[in-house]
Amino acid sequence: MKKINLGVLVSGSGSNLQAIIDNIESGKLDAIIRVVISNVSGVRALERAKNHNIPAVVIDHENFSIREKFDREAVAILKSHSVDLVIMAGFMKILTPVFLRAFPGKIINIHPALLPSFQGLHVQQKAFDYGVKFSGCTVHFADEGVDTGPIIIQAVVPVYGDDTAGILQQRILKEEHRIYSQAIQFYAEGRLEIDGRKVHIKDSGIMETPRMYNPPLEKF
Ligand code: GAR
Repeated sequence: MKKINLGVLVSGSGSNLQAIIDNIESGKLDAIIRVVISNVSGVRALERAKNHNIPAVVIDHENFSIREKFDREAVAILKSHSVDLVIMAGFMKILTPVFLRAFPGKIINIHPALLPSFQGLHVQQKAFDYGVKFSGCTVHFADEGVDTGPIIIQAVVPVYGDDTAGILQQRILKEEHRIYSQAIQFYAEGRLEIDGRKVHIKDSGIMETPRMYNPPLEKF
C-alpha cells in the first residue's frame, strides 16, 4: 500500500508524535513522517524527531507579529516536504485561513476531551472540575473554529471518585495514542469522506460495548 506523507506540528512533549512514530516503525501505520515543525524551541518533541532521524524545524512564533506570516512559512516547509496530511499533535496555536486553504480537508487535530464539550485549553482540568463521569478524546479535521471541525473518532474514558485531574489526563492521553494512529490509518486507506459536519468511514466496525454506565447500574 502507498504510504502517505505526514507533516507533524508540535509545541511540547510530543508523546502523540512518539506513538505515531512507534506505530509507523512497527509497520501498523502506512505513513512516513516527512517533517516535524515546532513553534517552540527546545521541546521534547524535537528530541523525539531527532532520535528517529526525522527532519525537525523550529519556527519560533515569537518572531512573528502576524500569524499569517508564521502560517505561510509553515506551509512552505510542509509543501517542500511533499506533505499529504498535516497532523496537529499537541500544537498549541490556532491556524489561520492561510494555512487551512493550503491543505483543505488535509489537517487533523487531537483534542483531550469529548467534543463539543470542553473546547479550548486545560480541558482535562475543566472536565474534572465539572464533575463529568466520562471524558475522553477526539480526533477531528481542522476548520476555522477552535476545536470545531468534523469528528473522525472519539474514545471515552471513565472518571472515578478518587481521580485527580492529572490521573484523568494520563488516562485520556493513553487513548489519544491509539485513536490518533487509527484516524491517520483510516485517512491513509482513503476511507474518510467529509460530508458537512459528518465524517463517513467506509467499512468501519461497530463498537463492542454498546452502553456504558459510570457508576454501573445496580437494579435497572
Ligand atoms: C495532548 O493531550 C493533546 O491532546 C493536547 O495537548 C497534549 C499534547 O501532548 N492538545 C491540545 O490541548 C490542543 N489544543 P503531547 O505533546 O505529549 O502529544
